[in-house]
Amino acid sequence: MSQTRSAILLVGGMGTRMQPLTFSTPKPMLPLLGRPITEHQIIKAREAGITEIVLATSYLADVFTPYFGNGEKFGITISYAVEKNALGTGGAIRNAAKLLKGDGPVVIFNGDVLSKHSLDEQIAFHEQNDADVTLYLTQVKDARAFGVVEMVGERIETFNEKMESPPTNIINAGCYIFNRSVIDEIPEETVVSVERETFPALLARGAKVLGFVDDEYWLDIGNPGALLAATRDLIEATGYPFMQGKGSEIDPTATITNGSFIGAGAKIGPGATIDQCVIGEGAIVGANVDLQRTFVAAGCDIGSNMSAKDEFFGFSSK
Ligand code: GTP
Repeated sequence: MSQTRSAILLVGGMGTRMQPLTFSTPKPMLPLLGRPITEHQIIKAREAGITEIVLATSYLADVFTPYFGNGEKFGITISYAVEKNALGTGGAIRNAAKLLKGDGPVVIFNGDVLSKHSLDEQIAFHEQNDADVTLYLTQVKDARAFGVVEMVGERIETFNEKMESPPTNIINAGCYIFNRSVIDEIPEETVVSVERETFPALLARGAKVLGFVDDEYWLDIGNPGALLAATRDLIEATGYPFMQGKGSEIDPTATITNGSFIGAGAKIGPGATIDQCVIGEGAIVGANVDLQRTFVAAGCDIGSNMSAKDEFFGFSSK
């Protein structure tokens, strides 16, 4: 990647496993410590020297542009590829690549992955080995819900999407680098799954598909439990029991624990206990409320003297 470093972020999925949080917000726009998951990824991309990003949108596409604009505020050029009907991950990549100015290899992120792997090293690995495609891989205890690979050396030999008895525990961690010629092979305006069609087809024709295995922190933020875990992990890394956004007010008799995040301008009343929760911007949690593993939507007033566990308050239903 000698000249422009480019990336595509796949942010057009329906996020069904993340409902009800995704009824009115696309999963990649859900706040993680008060900033969209996508913003965390954009910052990671910028730090790896990427200068242009295309957001591949479909579901609730209009939500992205007002927040990210042309990317100037984030120090990166951002443009938007909108799929009227979702094209799947492969179709989305093909469609978004048309907007890229650079013609070198392209970094592709799933919009729901949080990782500490070095993107810079992954890019260098791809270049040094002259690969067609380089997948960031990680090892998990239970690989059944993921795309699993078998490798010989650094070369990926098989790719198996979500199966009951996975042959290894090395999984596709959702960030890959594609040479431009590989993207151009994906049929245009067609629904294609990169996991179910493109990867197996590349392997079948003997393309050089390499694995960049990394065991640093990785999390797939696919459902509400994972979003709570991501929030807690990021907060725990700071050494604080919780974090709060600007202008939030927490009564001194309230107890906030276990990596909870209190959004900007939210108010927490006397005697409230909040354990591993995400409280949205401007939300109001009244006196003696006891919440565990619960999401409160931005602006929602949940009243006083009640308790809830694994609940969602104020998220619109379909
Ligand atoms: P579930 O419905 O809960 O499976 O979530 P999802 O819709 O996000 O699907 P999944 O987690 O498998 O998708 C992985 C990534 O690809 C996510 O960041 C999605 O936003 C994105 N994605 C999935 N399908 C499409 C698509 O058709 N178009 C675009 N642009 N992105 C997609």
